[in-house]
Amino acid sequence: MLDLTDIIPSVRDLVNRVAGFISSQVNQVSMAQIEEKSKNSLVSFVDKQAEIRLVEGLRNIIPGSTFLTEEGTVEQQKGEWRWIIDPLDGTTNFLHGIPVFAISVALQFRGTTALGIVHEIGQNEQFYAWEQGGAWCNGRPIRVAAASSMDQALIATGFPYYDYKRIAGYLDVLESLMRDTRGVRRCGSAAVDLAYVAAGRYNAFFEYSLHPWDVAAGAFIVLEAGGVVTDFKGENNFLFGKEVIAGGAIIHACLLETIQSAFFR
Ligand code: IPD
Ligand code: CA
Ligand code: CA
Repeated sequence: MLDLTDIIPSVRDLVNRVAGFISSQVNQVSMAQIEEKSKNSLVSFVDKQAEIRLVEGLRNIIPGSTFLTEEGTVEQQKGEWRWIIDPLDGTTNFLHGIPVFAISVALQFRGTTALGIVHEIGQNEQFYAWEQGGAWCNGRPIRVAAASSMDQALIATGFPYYDYKRIAGYLDVLESLMRDTRGVRRCGSAAVDLAYVAAGRYNAFFEYSLHPWDVAAGAFIVLEAGGVVTDFKGENNFLFGKEVIAGGAIIHACLLETIQSAFFR
């Protein structure tokens, strides 16, 4: 059996090198090089090239491993060891010159996440965790915040930008949070939102219509940092269920209640 403690330095180093590549491309992408995959879902050669570099490096680290990736530059397969990759989370920020974007890489063993890295490129902060290894940022241990009431809580979210079916419920939640918490932030990268929850900066994060590559690494880091992660039902299907709530235990429970009363009444 593979020892994750042995491979984490190589994975961190690879992600760091690809972060350097993405950083070198800031302000280098022209309008003509941007493609709209679907409504408001942008991509450029930077996303694709970053993914190609990650896949090549990760394949060397675990020969025979398989991939689930946002840009589909490699065959999408389900094997014993599978990497779930978003090569550039926060593409819209990246393309607009807003410095909040990240690489997100998770590793699953037989369908269970065992390692996660979110590298926020603007601040050069690498958040990572592995099974039984704890949660870290640039070599320092991290932990979710211990706020015990909503009036002390700073909440992060992602606004709906293509799926408006549940927007009424979403706006009700937003109104409650604007009234009852310290504030709401939308930074434009779900992976970074989750990493900041793990580091105790945000007290909680929620969003719907996310994909597994947006969430896999960050959610794992939150769990390893002592947090709680669920879908909007309070259940475990946050990876493929397109909904996530993550936070410290008490604030997670308060936010879950707010979301349930708005979405399921
Ligand atoms: C997006 C970002 C954004 C979130 C979207 C994601 P992308 O990922 O994480 O914060 O609101 O739902 O799709 O497209 O930049 O990789
Ligand atoms: Ca993403
Ligand atoms: Ca992406």
